[in-house]
Amino acid sequence: MHEVFKKIKKHRVIAVLEIDSLENVTPVCETLLSSGISVIELALRTEVAQKATEQIIKNFPQIIVGLGTVLNEDQVKFAIDSGVSFAVAPGCNPKIIDLAKKNNLLFSPGICSPTDIEISLDYGCNVLKFFPAENSGGIKYLNSINNPYKHLNLNYIPLGGINISNVKKYLDSNLILAVGGSWLAPKHLINSKKWKLISSNCEEINNLIL
Ligand code: 3PG
Repeated sequence: MHEVFKKIKKHRVIAVLEIDSLENVTPVCETLLSSGISVIELALRTEVAQKATEQIIKNFPQIIVGLGTVLNEDQVKFAIDSGVSFAVAPGCNPKIIDLAKKNNLLFSPGICSPTDIEISLDYGCNVLKFFPAENSGGIKYLNSINNPYKHLNLNYIPLGGINISNVKKYLDSNLILAVGGSWLAPKHLINSKKWKLISSNCEEINNLIL
């Protein structure tokens, strides 16, 4: 397994961030770090997302930064140039996976079917983003689609609809590398600068992991 994925496996949790305003980058990162969360997926879904990524890479070397919602070639190029540790996408686009692979960008395609898994395998990906986890049928569904590929020891990062009330069943499964979600630092709490609430969300999950 790639060193970055080994580290993420130790952390077990990835906070998905959508940043609307650059002034929130430092406080949200400080809040996450001081509450024990040091892996993020920064979603390329806002105007300032790329600038926010650059700021985090420059100012928070302790954070393992992944880029999320990587949908086109320019975004793959940005991921490479910015120096993020890994990238993910909600879907399984062979063109994007191929480009990431050719440029040595650690990439986890989004899967929610055996077909997606087989496309990912074609490109040598073995840590896959399971999206949308809850609405696809959760850990039970993941167990079922992974069954034919059990011998390949694939690992998954479930995302989509995960929160403190349903996260345990994912963490208990040995298919899961780490869980992710926006529930730790949701956009509305970032925009309203509710750092204490974000911190208590992080503490809740850390208590569950301990
Ligand atoms: C993602 O980008 O990975 C998803 O938006 C995360 O899903 P969630 O917002 O339901 O946690």
